[in-house]
Amino acid sequence: MTLITQGAEAHLYKTTFLSPAHPAALKIRPSKPYRHPILDRRLTRQRVLQEARCMARLVREGVNVPGVLGVDWDLGSIESWKKEGGGEGGEAGAGAGAGAGAWILMEWIPGCVVRVVISRWEKFVARGGAQLETSAEAEGEREKEKIRGLLRRVGAAVGALHKAGVVHGDLTTSNLILRGVDEEEGEEGWKDGEEPNLEGEVVLIDFGLASQSIQDEDRAVDLYVLERAFGSTHPRTEPLFGEVLEGYRASYRGAGSVLKRLEDVRMRGRKKSMLG
Ligand SMILES: Nc1ncnc2c1ncn2[C@@H]1O[C@H](COP(=O)(O)OP(=O)(O)OP(=O)(O)O)[C@@H](O)[C@H]1O
Ligand SMILES: [Mg+2]
Repeated sequence: MTLITQGAEAHLYKTTFLSPAHPAALKIRPSKPYRHPILDRRLTRQRVLQEARCMARLVREGVNVPGVLGVDWDLGSIESWKKEGGGEGGEAGAGAGAGAGAWILMEWIPGCVVRVVISRWEKFVARGGAQLETSAEAEGEREKEKIRGLLRRVGAAVGALHKAGVVHGDLTTSNLILRGVDEEEGEEGWKDGEEPNLEGEVVLIDFGLASQSIQDEDRAVDLYVLERAFGSTHPRTEPLFGEVLEGYRASYRGAGSVLKRLEDVRMRGRKKSMLG
C-alpha cells in the first residue's frame, strides 16, 4: 500500500483489489483519541456509512464518482476483540473499548486533482502571459477556451450531483479528479512550463460531508463553498469562475433557481464578513 495523503480526518492509500491489475483507494478514518470513545465510534461510523451510501447511490444514478468496493465502520470491535484475547467476552469489550476507526475501499480513479491541473495551467499561462493578456492572440484565446471548457465540465459535474439529490458539503478543486490526466507531479508527469492536459472526465470524490438534499439553499451553499475555495486557491483563474456556473446552469432544470439563491448566499456571506 502506498500512502497518498494523510489529512487531519482521513488517510488515503493506493492499494489493489482482488488482483494486482485492479488499483483501489483505501480511505481510513482513524479514531480520535481525544474524543470520548463511545461518541467517537458513533461519529466515525455515521460519517463512513453516510459517505459509502452517498457514493453507492450516485453510482446507481450514473453520476461520475468512484464505485464502492467495501466498507467497515467498526474496526473497534476487532481491536477490542483482540485485546480481550480473542473471542471470550468479545461483546462486552466491543461495547466499551475505544474504536480504531473505519474504512472505505473504492475504485481508484487514475488522474490528477483539478487543483493541480489548474495550478499547472496558471503556471503555463504566467510563462507566456503576454499572449494571454492580448486577447487578439489566437494562441491566448485557444488556451482560454480550453480552461473554460474544463470549468464548464466542473459545473456540469456538480449539476449532475445535485440533480441526483445529493449535496457535497466540501466542494473544492481537491475533491475533483480529472480522469486520465498524468498522476505524477514534477519530473515524471508534467514538466514545469509544459502545456498541461485539460481533457478528461471530471470525477467527484470525498463524500465525507455529503448529504441528501434537493433544497435550493443547500445546493446554493455547495456552489458558494466552491466559489470561495476557488478564489483562494486559484486567484488567477477566478475571473473565469462564471464558466463553472454556466456549466451548472445548463446541466439540469432546477439550476436557474439555485443560481438565483446563490446571490442571496453571497450577500449573507459578505454581511457576515463585514461583521467580522
Ligand atoms: N478514488 C480515488 N482515486 C484516486 N485518488 C483518490 C481517490 N480518492 C481520493 N484520492 C486522492 O486522495 C486525496 C484525499 O482523498 P479525500 O479527499 O477523499 O480525503 P480527505 O480530504 O482527507 O477526506 P475528508 O475531507 O473526508 O476528511 C484526494 O485529494 C485525491 O488526491
Ligand atoms: Mg478531500
